[in-house]
Amino acid sequence: MPSISNKGQAMPESPIRKLVPYAEAAIKKGRKIYQLNIGQPDIKTPEKALAAVKNNDIEVLSYSHSAGFESYRNKLSQYYTNHNIDIAPDELIITTGGSEALLFTMGSICDAGDEVIIPEPFYANYNGFATSSGVTVVPVKSKIEDGFALPPISEFEKLITPKTKAILICNPGNPTGYLYTKEEIDQLAEIVKKHDLFIVADEVYREFAYDGAKHYSIMSVKGIEQNAIMIDSVSKRYSMCGARIGCLASKNKEVMSTAMKFAQARLSPPTFAQIASEAALDTPQDYFDEVISEYTTRRNLLVEGLEKIEGVKVAKPKGAFYCIAELPVKDAEDFAKWLLESFELENETVMIAPAAGFYSTPNTGLNQVRIAYVLKKENLLRALEILKAALKVYKG
Ligand SMILES: Cc1ncc(COP(=O)(O)O)c(C=O)c1O
Repeated sequence: MPSISNKGQAMPESPIRKLVPYAEAAIKKGRKIYQLNIGQPDIKTPEKALAAVKNNDIEVLSYSHSAGFESYRNKLSQYYTNHNIDIAPDELIITTGGSEALLFTMGSICDAGDEVIIPEPFYANYNGFATSSGVTVVPVKSKIEDGFALPPISEFEKLITPKTKAILICNPGNPTGYLYTKEEIDQLAEIVKKHDLFIVADEVYREFAYDGAKHYSIMSVKGIEQNAIMIDSVSKRYSMCGARIGCLASKNKEVMSTAMKFAQARLSPPTFAQIASEAALDTPQDYFDEVISEYTTRRNLLVEGLEKIEGVKVAKPKGAFYCIAELPVKDAEDFAKWLLESFELENETVMIAPAAGFYSTPNTGLNQVRIAYVLKKENLLRALEILKAALKVYKG
């Protein structure tokens, strides 16, 4: 039989999706599962976005420009201006999700063997994008005790080698929910300038900042225009994960012209989804106000609920819709499997994501899980009840 590539064999499984077969088996047994494992919000997609697709009389579903519709890029540039982020339409490439923007970025700035420093725990698919691009992820550990704040900048400095090309951050963070302060972003800006590195900021959760905190974009920092690359997406902002639209933004013309070659190779981003995304930009502020208020309530409920369970430690998230919780178990993956295979409370159970897959340092985060508060309040409360009951009887 012809053999599979080394790169293919090295591709990591998604820690978020790898428990799916256990969940499917549980569902077959007739069990109800509260899914706290994935970032699929239950929030409604804005009506305007759906209507733009439904009421469309396109006769030929043609390719678009490789950088995406000009009309969409113009309007998106205006959206950034409204968020105090200065990005011109020609400093944007529309991509098939933030995922493709991350792939184009790694392809544009890294050669095989180059290193990217990432605070861990981090969005697990960064490992997959890095493997696809032959890039080595160099983790710098952030800690639950510090709420997953930016590790001391000296820790980054220790890891910089001649192969280091970039620092990649996620702000607000998946899976930590941490929102970097202006001071932290400024410190990162200083270090990338000093060492002539790129700084890639994944800002797909920009809108999700709580308690009145303001998101501070990498694109707002003066003096690092040639270093900064921003990743964005409509997936979470408008609860449009299935649209598959994101973008890559940079003021660095060489980065953009290189990324454009990757964009041309895949021809164009999806047409209908761009129509929906362009229309979504008309979503009124009260939609976001409602969504933020809903997520704040859910976060408070979840964190308070978790803190009441004996032996559970949690870092209160300031943004996005995830938190990392430390559980009184040895191996959170075994526990997550056990929840699906062997536990039920009135024929119901919960699905959580073991956090070890969000770390690249081996044997780290083994007793931690990521919980997404993407369910409505009643369901979150019930999920907490089930988790509490499960931890009471779990031996491991
Ligand atoms: C931090 C982060 N970046 C990027 C993505 C990719 O999003 P998409 O490809 O749907 O835009 C996700 C999805 O969950 C994410 O959490």
